[in-house]
Parts: sequence; structure tokens; C-alpha cells
Amino acid sequence: MEQRRLGWPRLLGLLAVLASRAFAARNLGLWPMPGSVQMTPRLLHVSPDRFFIDHSPASKAGPSCALLQSAFQRYYDYIFGFNKWRHGPAKPHSEMDLQKLLVSVTQDPECDNFPNISSDESCLETFSQLIYQDSYGAFTVNESKIIDSPRFPHRGILIDTSRHFLPVKTILKTLGSFSLSGVYTPNDIRRVIGYARLRGIRIVPEFDSPGHTQSWGKGQKDLLTPCYQGKQSSGTFGPINPILNTTYSFLHDLFKEISTVFPDKFIHLGGDEVQFDCWKSNPDIQNFMKSKGFANFERLESFYMEKLLDMVSTMGKRSIVWQEVFDNKDKLSPGTVVQVWKSDKFPREQSKVTEAGFPMILSAPWYLDVIRYGQDWRGYYEVEPLDFPGSEKQKTLVIGGEACLWGEYVDSTNLTPRLWPRASAVGERLWSHQGVRDLADAYSRLTVHRCRMIRRGISAQPLFTGYCNYEDGMSQ
Ligand SMILES: *[C@@H]1O[C@H](CO)[C@@H](O)[C@H](O)[C@H]1NC(C)=O
Ligand SMILES: *[C@@H]1O[C@H](CO)[C@@H](O)[C@H](O)[C@H]1NC(C)=O
Ligand SMILES: *[C@@H]1O[C@H](CO)[C@@H](O)[C@H](O)[C@H]1NC(C)=O
Repeated sequence: MEQRRLGWPRLLGLLAVLASRAFAARNLGLWPMPGSVQMTPRLLHVSPDRFFIDHSPASKAGPSCALLQSAFQRYYDYIFGFNKWRHGPAKPHSEMDLQKLLVSVTQDPECDNFPNISSDESCLETFSQLIYQDSYGAFTVNESKIIDSPRFPHRGILIDTSRHFLPVKTILKTLGSFSLSGVYTPNDIRRVIGYARLRGIRIVPEFDSPGHTQSWGKGQKDLLTPCYQGKQSSGTFGPINPILNTTYSFLHDLFKEISTVFPDKFIHLGGDEVQFDCWKSNPDIQNFMKSKGFANFERLESFYMEKLLDMVSTMGKRSIVWQEVFDNKDKLSPGTVVQVWKSDKFPREQSKVTEAGFPMILSAPWYLDVIRYGQDWRGYYEVEPLDFPGSEKQKTLVIGGEACLWGEYVDSTNLTPRLWPRASAVGERLWSHQGVRDLADAYSRLTVHRCRMIRRGISAQPLFTGYCNYEDGMSQ
């Protein structure tokens, strides 16, 4: 999720009036670019002493909405830099004061709910970005009208807590969907989900199987397939053993627990990169294949995934799977979301998935763990998610995308700088209008946005040579 975007019902900021001061065109670094911003020449002074964000009398939400109260507090802090200004020199001000931002929620405020795929997400973020400090250091804003909403409903980041353990503190700083191994307590999970909820972020867990499960085998006897060397079992293990009933009773208990701990409607079931060698070597698996008349191991994988998908759907959840599950299967339950991740000819895969009528998430061009010298964010930015052969109806099946940061070379020491601002490029691509794609303009806004992240305490790496006015977030 574009991390600082909030997700709750339509907010309408009404700004009051006045003032004049010579003013040079300013790069405010709006990111992601909102649907429309009309700025007027009227300048308003925003004093940290007097300014506050409040509910409009017309709003459907009020002070009992903890979700909004906490957002008001957080945005006050973002705007004024966590009170560091208080010790600066007071400035004699002549402009009109903007004392209140009145927030009016015009739809059901969803104050106590978890955000979901259809949550309305127009927000406070752009307002906070419009406020700047003038040459005296005074907080100032042009009277403005903002209209905004995201282009795609699903805008994610994937972080990998399996290849390296990530402390909860690091996850809270990063927040998105993450794949999980068994080292977090239920309390940790609740904390992450609660923290995310207040920021309009959904947490979608991935429990990948039947491959990528070596660690599960350590705790669960007979779960993995024993591999054979000739007639002897070799002592090593392969993917989950799909032919035992005990496998499915274990999976049932596991996913039952997962579906109660994670409130989101979606669970990611993985299904990628299943190695068939071990299955091939095992005589029990061979016999099972014969008895079922399965001609190949893709069919066996489908047999497993089908059972898992049915199981999860009886628990009231919807599933996301990696593209192989679609590729290897002749039928897949309608509504299963297919995540396209293989970079080779991915537009062709997008066509196939959507032609078959499945909702789709794009990740292939956004593997942020692949790094190289230079400004690789430009490549992420230039991707057009709907640029594949297909009908209008097919295009509507693209629900969004996810920037993936797999963890082979990432832990809590480098997660944040490797993710930001590179993931911000994906954030704008999924949020802003299709026509927002001028690279020079994006560069100038993103450099300012990167400094904004530094100021808000996020150690985002530099885009290129340059400096920020606020570098205090950088030393840690
Ligand atoms: C903001 O207000 C100043 C001062 O009136 C004006 O010069 C400037 O053009 C305004 N900015 C925009 C983007 O309208
Ligand atoms: C999302 O949440 C809202 C409010 O709780 C609810 O009305 C809506 O049906 C939910 N949508 C989905 C797709 O679950
Ligand atoms: C596994 O479950 C199936 C279906 O319930 C049943 O027919 C079969 O006998 C079971 N196999 C074993 C070994 O218990």
C-alpha cells in the first residue's frame, strides 16, 4: 500500500480564506498525484498553536470515531514535524490564519471496521502535503480544492518475514502484505493488524504451500513428502505430501486459525515454484497418481490446490494464488485472484488470466528485491498495468498490483531504504490517473516526497545527488 495513504470514506477539507505574500512557484512534491488539485493565490497561515483538525457538523462521523481521531493526531504531527518547530523563533504574521480543517465524512464512516477492497479512500494526505514553510519558517497553504480517489483498489507491498526474521517494530514501520513463518505470537499479529487498520492498510497473510514449506515439516510429522533414492527413502523431504488424509486435517486446523486471526477477506495460498523431483521419486505418490489416473505432476499439484481452495472458501475467505496455480490447472474456482509474478512476457499472462475471467494482481515488473545501479524506480513508474491485449471487460479484472521485496538479501537493517522511495513509484502508478506519467515531473516531485519521508522518520534512500532540508530522520 502506498504507505502514507489513508483509507476511509470521503473526506472533504474546507479551507477558509486570505492574505498575500510574494510567492515563487513551489514544488510541493505532491505524491501520489491526486485526481485534481485547484490551488488559488490565496495564502493561509497555519499556526501550530492554533490549528486543529476537527469534525464538520455535517459529518456522519464525530469524536467517537477513534479511527479518525487518531488520524487527526497523526496528521497534525506530520504537518508540524512532531513539535520540533516549537523551539524556533516566533514570526510576526500578517496572513490570515487557517485555524481549522473540518473533515466531513459523507458515507458510512466505517470507524470500527477493518478496511477492505471496496473501502472509499479519499484523504488527508494531500492536504498535509500542500502545507509548506515559507522563507520565515511559517507554515503556509494556498487555499485549494482537492478531488481524489485511487485508480486501482489493490495497491500493495509484499514483505518477506520468512527468509529473514523481521522484528515487529520493523513491520509496523513498513506495513503491507507479508508472508509469514511461525515466529510471531498472536499478540504480535494483533498489534500489526490494529496498527495497519488505523492507517487504512489491509494485512493479507501468505501461507505458501505445497512448496516452500521446509520449515513447516520441522514441526509437523508426516506433512512433507519423503524423497527416495532408488528404493530407499533418502532422509530428505520435498513439498507437502498431497496423498495423506492427515495432511488435509492439519491444513484445515491451520487455515481455520489463520482465518480467525486475520480479519481480511483474502488469504494468499501461494502455490508457486513446486519442485516435482521428490514427488516423482516417491513410490506411494506414483501409485496414487496411477489410481487417480493423473498423467502428470501438474495434475497432482492441482489436486492439492483444489482441496485447499475449497477448504478456505468454506471458511468464508477468498484466495489469492501465484500464477502457476492458474497455469497448471484446467479449472480454478471463479473469483480466485491470480497474482502474475513471472517477468517473462507478463502482458501475455495478463491476457490469459483475464480472458479466463479471473481477477488479477500485477507484480511481475515490480520485484523490488532485484536491484541494479541507477534509478530503477523509473522502470517501475513507466509500467502501464493495463497495457496487454484484451477487451475492456478484461481490463476491469486487474484489481491492482503489489511491489514485492523478497527477503534473501533484506532484513531489518536495509528493508526501509530498499523499499522507499522505489515502492513509491509503484504507489503512484496504482493510485494516479493513467495519464500521470511524465518522468521529469515525477522525479522533481519524488525527490521532495523522499525528503518528506525522511522528515516523517522513514529512512528512504536518495534518488540521486542532492540534499534535504530535514535530515534529522536520517541518523539512527
Ligand atoms: C499560491 O499563492 C501564491 C500567492 O498568492 C501565488 O503566487 C501562487 O501562484 C499560488 N500557487 C498556485 C499553485 O496557485
Ligand atoms: C467492506 O466493508 C464495508 C463496511 O464494513 C461493507 O459495507 C462492505 O460490504 C465491505 N465490502 C466487501 C467487499 O467486503
Ligand atoms: C481418507 O479419506 C477418504 C475420504 O474421506 C476415505 O475414503 C479414505 O478411506 C481415507 N483414507 C485413510 C487411509 O484413512
